[in-house]
Amino acid sequence: MSEEPLIFIDGVKKWFPIKTGMLSSSKSFVRAVDGVNLSVKKGETLGIVGESGCGKTTLGRVLLGLIPITEGSIKYNGVDIRDMKNRDVRKKMQIVFQDPGGSMNPRMSVRSIVGEPLIVNGMSDGAELTKIVAELLDSVGLNRKHMTRFPHEFSGGQKQRIAVARALALNPEFILLDEPTSALDVSVQAQVLNLLEEIQTEKDLTFVFITHSLNVVHHISDRVAVMYLGKIVELADTIDLFESPSHPYTHALLSAIPEISVEDNKERIVLSGDVPSPANPPSGCRFHTRCPIAKEGVCDTDEPEFRELSEGHFVSCHFPVDAGKSLPIFNE
Ligand SMILES: Nc1ncnc2c1ncn2[C@@H]1O[C@H](COP(=O)(O)OP(=O)(O)OP(=O)(O)O)[C@@H](O)[C@H]1O
Ligand SMILES: [Mg+2]
Repeated sequence: MSEEPLIFIDGVKKWFPIKTGMLSSSKSFVRAVDGVNLSVKKGETLGIVGESGCGKTTLGRVLLGLIPITEGSIKYNGVDIRDMKNRDVRKKMQIVFQDPGGSMNPRMSVRSIVGEPLIVNGMSDGAELTKIVAELLDSVGLNRKHMTRFPHEFSGGQKQRIAVARALALNPEFILLDEPTSALDVSVQAQVLNLLEEIQTEKDLTFVFITHSLNVVHHISDRVAVMYLGKIVELADTIDLFESPSHPYTHALLSAIPEISVEDNKERIVLSGDVPSPANPPSGCRFHTRCPIAKEGVCDTDEPEFRELSEGHFVSCHFPVDAGKSLPIFNE
């Protein structure tokens, strides 16, 4: 893995306007992504975890240039993504979604689905396309004879392999995987994760892997970014993050998985309440309303900086938890 960033995300915000009354002059926004600095290194798998609604998918979509950003910049190999031709971006950066069936036209054969990016780009057709699709199906462990079949004839895991084959059709450098295994049962999940790892090594790919499953992220990622309400609150190498989490939110997430719990007594930290609305995030540290160690007059007023605690381990917290320490159990 190289230290050079493939993708450089600088101060990125994505706010969605909320429709208010026709006569209302005040505008409000859902701050889905609200000031993210992050780089993705060549060849790595960067995991992004966080509760539902924290902005993971939105961050993924802005990263690929699928939706315009409100503020900040994204560079791919040093080039601002807004200056790249759509076609170049599409060739280099691909995406695999959660619902393998939903992203496929049920009336298209596997040959057309997998070959579509090549057809659309005018790169291949006829016998040549059939040959390429056959090779792509081989590479994801599917039978090449199945290219004449239709999506409904496949299981969830097989459909996800088809989606991966399609993502590989244009020889991309980068793939965004947005919950690619969440809809699959555990044994199939493991097969798809193994396939992704094999393909990554073979084709020298860079992955951003979005998931709310810490087990999955532990298995597949080199580094992990923990997101809360539109911001990255902790970023570290996977082993470092799981062995010595610093942010109280990361502690809470980790305590919820029994197998890799950081708590000696394996008690689960239960976070009170729902995630606050990203349309009206709490003042100061966004996590203070649910944090067991928040201090009045600091955490509710001052926004913590995203700082480097130890090499490559970043956290945005006024009172990061020391390595090896656990948090009080709270808020039952
Ligand atoms: N097109 C949109 N218009 C308005 N609000 C949006 C839009 N897309 C996302 N949002 C809002 O932005 C916030 C973040 O959504 P996002 O889908 O990025 O979260 P997520 O972390 O991917 O959640 P999940 O784990 O459920 O997939 C949510 O409050 C969501 O309602
Ligand atoms: Mg999502």
